[in-house]
Amino acid sequence: MSTFRSIKGTFDVLPYGSRSEGVQSVSSASWVAAESVIRRVLNKFDFDEIRTPIIEPAELIARGIGEHTDIVTKEMFAFSRGDDNYVLRPEITAPVIRAVLQHSMQQTREVHRLFYMGPCFRAERPQKGRYRQFQQFGCEIIGSLSPAADADVILTMLAVYDAFGLSGYRLRVNSLGNPDSRKTYSDALRTYFASHKSTLSEASRNRLNENPLRLLDTKIEQERALLVSAPRIADFLDDADREHFEEVTQYLDDRGVSYEIDPMLVRGLDYYTRTAFELEIDTLGAQNALAGGGRYDLLARELGSKTAVPAVGFAAGFERLLLALEAAGTGLNTLAKPDVYVISLGPAAGQFCFGLVQDARAAGLRVSFDVQGRSMKAQMRDANKRGAGFVVIVGDNELASGSGVIKNMAGGEEFTVLFHQIVPKLKELTDVPTTS
Ligand code: HAM
Repeated sequence: MSTFRSIKGTFDVLPYGSRSEGVQSVSSASWVAAESVIRRVLNKFDFDEIRTPIIEPAELIARGIGEHTDIVTKEMFAFSRGDDNYVLRPEITAPVIRAVLQHSMQQTREVHRLFYMGPCFRAERPQKGRYRQFQQFGCEIIGSLSPAADADVILTMLAVYDAFGLSGYRLRVNSLGNPDSRKTYSDALRTYFASHKSTLSEASRNRLNENPLRLLDTKIEQERALLVSAPRIADFLDDADREHFEEVTQYLDDRGVSYEIDPMLVRGLDYYTRTAFELEIDTLGAQNALAGGGRYDLLARELGSKTAVPAVGFAAGFERLLLALEAAGTGLNTLAKPDVYVISLGPAAGQFCFGLVQDARAAGLRVSFDVQGRSMKAQMRDANKRGAGFVVIVGDNELASGSGVIKNMAGGEEFTVLFHQIVPKLKELTDVPTTS
């Protein structure tokens, strides 16, 4: 019988990374290190964490993201139990708004600044940077119409990449207007593309009725040629939309952020109004979007809210951040290392050392020891390989003398220390804060 493998488009995060290339080569300790950098930045920008379930009602996602989007029509991991239809969440914005409404969070505070980090699922064709289970992190400012919120979200997003020292990305921004201007624009696009129907692919012809805006990010060469003379959203914005967008870009200018206004930028989710943006980097190849987001003032209403809850946010692909760092040559290669490795020889020393290991851990140290009954030499080799800061050696001689040897693996110095002083001495040497 053959053994099992993880599902295509999913992967394991191993303590030492796997031998495969790309994101799978990154160790779990590096994931944790990167996650804590992200959390630190998001906290600094005054966002609090929200955790929502991985399964959500199918209807929430369909209504939130849009019935006709690729995500909802083609990429959902959906299942039913009895009469209930569920999906694995493909994103976290609609779930966050669901939670805000469900808990009447608007009654306790008018504005919420929430961040999240966790797995999402999309049944896309797997390739480098595109997975069926991937991790998103992002934030949402909920309850504000102000352009300052849009700009704050964009600056938060950029601050995450800056914290990793990643540069060379490109920020594209656009305004999709309010629902009325967007509708007039959609109609104009539909009329324009309808007059070029023979040039359109079958998929695009199908999209024409439901969502003509999606044609703007076509990858097909002939269709791209049509875009040159297609109507532009900027000509359909009303005064308030235009003013909002100008204020957002003014904030970005004031902070010296470089960006490009791209009138063809539309997003793969239907809930956006006004500001939409995307962050790209060339080193990622075909899946070049690091992050994206925008304003979605009507989503809450779409999900049943009686009052308007204007909001804006971004979400980013965690694996894409790791890949971009790897491509930039600043990949993370953190490995968890023990502070101390306790080496013993023989059953009596082994028994004593077992207690010593537990005592040192209780004092806050990360301590490793041999559970295979290997030779002292093999244990020393293991301690070296694991990158232990110090080893403690206890054999028959030490047992007889009531003292052990502590060796600094970096400097090589050795200390002979009475048993009861080993843990305090290790603490002094490693300088760990007291946790107990
Ligand atoms: P999105 O553009 O669909 O937006 O996804 C955000 C990011 O998730 C993408 O830029 C990409 O880095 C990553 N991503 C998406 N699909 C995959 C995949 N299959 N494999 C790996 N990474 C992927 C949203 O999800 C919106 N909720 C963003 C938002 C927040 N808008 C307002 N607030």
